Amino acid sequence: MSLTLPLELLALPHQRAVPFARLSTLGIGGTCDYLFEPTTAAQAQTFVRACAREAIPFRILGAGSNIVSLGDIAEPVLRLQLPPGIRAEGRHLHASAACGLVRLANAAADAGLAGLEWACGIPGSCGGALRMNAGAVGSALADTLVRICYLTPEGERVERAPALGDFAYRTSFLRNGHLALGLELALAAGDPGELRDRMAALRARRSSTQPLNARSAGCTFKNPPGEAAGRLIDSAGLKGLQVGKVQVSSCHANFLVNLGGATPTEWLELVARIREEVQRVHSVPLDLEVEVWPASTDGP
Ligand code: EPU
Repeated sequence: MSLTLPLELLALPHQRAVPFARLSTLGIGGTCDYLFEPTTAAQAQTFVRACAREAIPFRILGAGSNIVSLGDIAEPVLRLQLPPGIRAEGRHLHASAACGLVRLANAAADAGLAGLEWACGIPGSCGGALRMNAGAVGSALADTLVRICYLTPEGERVERAPALGDFAYRTSFLRNGHLALGLELALAAGDPGELRDRMAALRARRSSTQPLNARSAGCTFKNPPGEAAGRLIDSAGLKGLQVGKVQVSSCHANFLVNLGGATPTEWLELVARIREEVQRVHSVPLDLEVEVWPASTDGP
């Protein structure tokens, strides 16, 4: 399946035939037929409006750190390449959706702004972090979010304060074609040296409890209410379980690592086995935390 796209879209910056292995931290998947990389919000708006007008479905990619692509993707994929746009104004911090979360956390500490230290080891983009309401050590992005800028699926630009129900544990309203463009956080005053020390301690803990040097998509399953998916998988005896080249990490059981050359089929089979076994041993269903992209031929 290959799409013919209107000239208005093809005039925007894009690449053809990009292997998904290069676009995601897990490093599996087929080929991304069209990768659009707008460098301005206006280009992103042109993209979304043209897709809406021509009824072309598209997919949105952030830093690729929380995604599993199951095959070839024929629909245009949008990956923002806006400048980071980091700006501190009093205790408020602004950034574009393309800014890396780690970079934003470092900028917050340098500016003496506290409340974003938890983000110092999360490899995603701010846009992806908004969409997932990324979080760690009991905090999440929505906790300090005071303003968000996004495009609706029709390409209308909206800037507003978050509303009740917009964000929940590892999810948000930014689904179904909503494209985050930027955010504003309200942080607290802090001492830059102390903030950097706290971040260094969090990074050290993270690198001793998570397989950061292996290729993975981070935590695979959401934590069920009151439980930790990693603990459930571990105590079901599944650490080290392997299907082909995908393995349950022996460091953190909620990470599935690509040992090199893993395939989507192997990843899916390992996910199914884990769910089955955790259900059998603990009677707890596990929901995926990572975003899974079906191949285009399987239907969007
Ligand atoms: N545990 C085990 N065995 C394991 C892994 C964990 O027994 O193999 C136990 C730990 O000992 C601990 C509990 O499970 O008692 C929770 O583990 P951890 O502190 O590592 O945190 P987590 O709940 O597994 C969450 C986020 C992580 C984030 C960490 C640190 C989710 C699904 N995961 O993990 O986020 O880095 O907290 O705050 O919410 C991600 O989103 O991709 C991610 C990795």
